[in-house]
Formats: sequence, structure tokens, C-alpha cells
Amino acid sequence: MRFSLNIDHIATLRNARGEDEPDPIAIALLAEQAGVDGIVVHLREDRRHINERDVRLLRELITTKLDLEMAATEEIIRIACDVGPELATIVPERRQELTTEGGINVIDNIDKLKSAIKDLHNAGIMVSLFIEPHIDQIDAAAEIDADFIEIHTGVFANAVNEEEQFDELDKIRIAVKHAKKLGLGVNAGHGLDYQNIKIFREVPDIDEVSIGHAIIARAVFVGLKEAIHEMIRLIG
Ligand code: PXP
Repeated sequence: MRFSLNIDHIATLRNARGEDEPDPIAIALLAEQAGVDGIVVHLREDRRHINERDVRLLRELITTKLDLEMAATEEIIRIACDVGPELATIVPERRQELTTEGGINVIDNIDKLKSAIKDLHNAGIMVSLFIEPHIDQIDAAAEIDADFIEIHTGVFANAVNEEEQFDELDKIRIAVKHAKKLGLGVNAGHGLDYQNIKIFREVPDIDEVSIGHAIIARAVFVGLKEAIHEMIRLIG
């Protein structure tokens, strides 16, 4: 299982002072040296953390893989096609939310997503859809030619007891198996941390996990390099 680091929080911290530090580009390069398999950023419509310049600099400087999380809007699709990340992960986006709150409903947005995937494919970019672990959503993702799905792990991460956690894990296992049968790559993310990854890593056939908050929070105590190494050791 590969591991990509989401660095949005570094940009949030930088923007809190309206100055240059901490620099998300420098953090991305340090994270690559520490062994992550890719860098993830979410270019939001309101630019509350990562901005367009960050994305363009990352594209020039990182040597692993750039995963651009994005809403399927005309403006962001145009920027993505111009920048050319290896992967575009389409997420739902609401201005009021603190963070992405759940998967996109592929069935309800099928025409918009089909057209976005076509445009991104024409620019040579692979596309992932961030979805709940539901069979009908996976079928719809395959139907409109997505390359990957990213399974929303927030419900698993926020489960209040073991039973709820294992129920959700079962749903995820079934979803992964189904997606693989349809030839989709499978990533996963949201709310994964140093505790729940010990259970989550047992799910077979996940290509990559995308983790942000837990790593950046841990880095405050032990430094980014150590925080990354600890997670890599857990993922195994
Ligand atoms: N994957 C997606 C699609 C996300 O929107 C986020 C949050 O930005 C993550 C993964 C990472 O979540 P977390 O910060 O909780 O690790």
C-alpha cells in the first residue's frame, strides 16, 4: 500500500499570517525525502489554503506524484488540464465545510463528471472519484471511465464503537473487491490516523492511502520526517 501526504494544512498555517512560512513546497520536498509516495493538495474554489502558484510550483519541483484534489468546476478543470498532475481526484465541495465531508454522488452528477473525466483524460491526467463504499457508486464510476476511486474512510474513522467500525470495514472490503473486478484502482482516505491505520492496513488491495491531518498534527511534536517514518512503519 502506497502512502501520499496531503499538505493543505501547511498552507493553512502559512495563510494564517499572510506571509511565506511554513512553505508548502519546502514541506513537500522534505516529505519526498522522508519517503512518501506522493503529494496531495486540494485547490479549493475559495483558495483557503493551497493556491494556484503552489500547485504550479509543486508540479515543477516534486519528483514523486502530484494528486490534485478538486471540484469538477469549469475553472478548476481548466487549471488542472494546464498544470497536468498525475492524478486528479474529484471531490464534492461546499464553501461552508471545514473539510471534505463525504464522497461525491456519482449517479446524481453523472453528466458533469463524465465530461470532466473526458477533459482531464484529453490532457493526459488520470482521474479518481472520491466516493462512499457503495456498489452503485462504484458501478457509475466505472461506467464513466474513471481510472481510480478513492474510498471515503471518514465513517470508519469516526465510528464510535468496534461494531460500527467493523461494519464499515466490511463495506469497504466488499467495495474494494468490486472495484478491482471492474478494473479500477483503489485509493482511500479521510480521517486515517496512527491508531486506525493498524486495522485499516488489513484491507487487501488498496493501492494508496491519502493522509493529511494526523501526520501534520504529529509533526508538531516529533517533526515531519519522524511523523512520516512512523506512519510508513505502521503501513508496513
Ligand atoms: N482524501 C480526501 C479526498 C480528502 O478530502 C482529504 C481531506 O483533505 C483526505 C483524503 C485526507 O484526510 P485527513 O486530513 O483527515 O487525513
